[in-house]
Amino acid sequence: MRHPVVMGNWKLNGSKEMVSNLLKGLDAALKGVEGVDVAVAPPVMYLDLAEQLIGKAENKIILGAQNVDVNAKGAFTGDISPEMLKDFGASHIIIGHSERRDYHSESDEFVAKKFAFLKEQGLTPVLCIGESEAQNEAGETVAVCARQIDAVIKTQGVEALNGAIIAYEPIWAIGTGKAATAEDAQRIHAAIRAHIAEQSEEVAKNVVIQYGGSVKPENAAAYFAQPDIDGALVGGAALDAESFAAIAKAAAEAKK
Ligand code: PGA
Repeated sequence: MRHPVVMGNWKLNGSKEMVSNLLKGLDAALKGVEGVDVAVAPPVMYLDLAEQLIGKAENKIILGAQNVDVNAKGAFTGDISPEMLKDFGASHIIIGHSERRDYHSESDEFVAKKFAFLKEQGLTPVLCIGESEAQNEAGETVAVCARQIDAVIKTQGVEALNGAIIAYEPIWAIGTGKAATAEDAQRIHAAIRAHIAEQSEEVAKNVVIQYGGSVKPENAAAYFAQPDIDGALVGGAALDAESFAAIAKAAAEAKK
């Protein structure tokens, strides 16, 4: 049985005060919510503070990050290594988010390199994949997702997906309020799983595939009712403790 994972991607939002309020609020709102892994990815500046607050929380909150670079140490100005993330207790690391692919020209191959680097360090990659609106309209969604996953499979083998998380995020649904319907998302999730199953049925069966893109408390339950949607990667709604906890709760309920 796949265990649901709901992760908050805080993106470029935060201050010491906001991180503190949000994590304290989330801890309170998660009371009694069981059967779902809840993770947050604050901006890297706030990992230290988040680690301390999570350490004091009564409910389990997994710490994550929004990115990692591809070097371990040395003359790489501005880079952050997996060891550094680990040092602050971050385990679930988002890579290949469309905002990084778009604004920082990150290629499938570069993202695959990050994936390998995280695995080497025993961290959990949260591999974001997804198509643009034009690709969607051209009927290329599954091919795009397959290509993005294949960059990992080709370099590291399908087994590398064991223990990793895939986040299917149609780019046109991110931050737009224009979420994919639960049925459409399910269709793509099933196709992604079938694509992985061509290499290994076992890996396909066990890999967690989250949906992301305008997930809100109002639409969350419909996604989690789908058999191949194992959780969510949440942006905007993760900045509100009550909303984010409601989404986590919906996942726990649906996947009981
Ligand atoms: P959104 O963002 O929930 O605000 O659409 C999702 C994401 O980019 O991970």
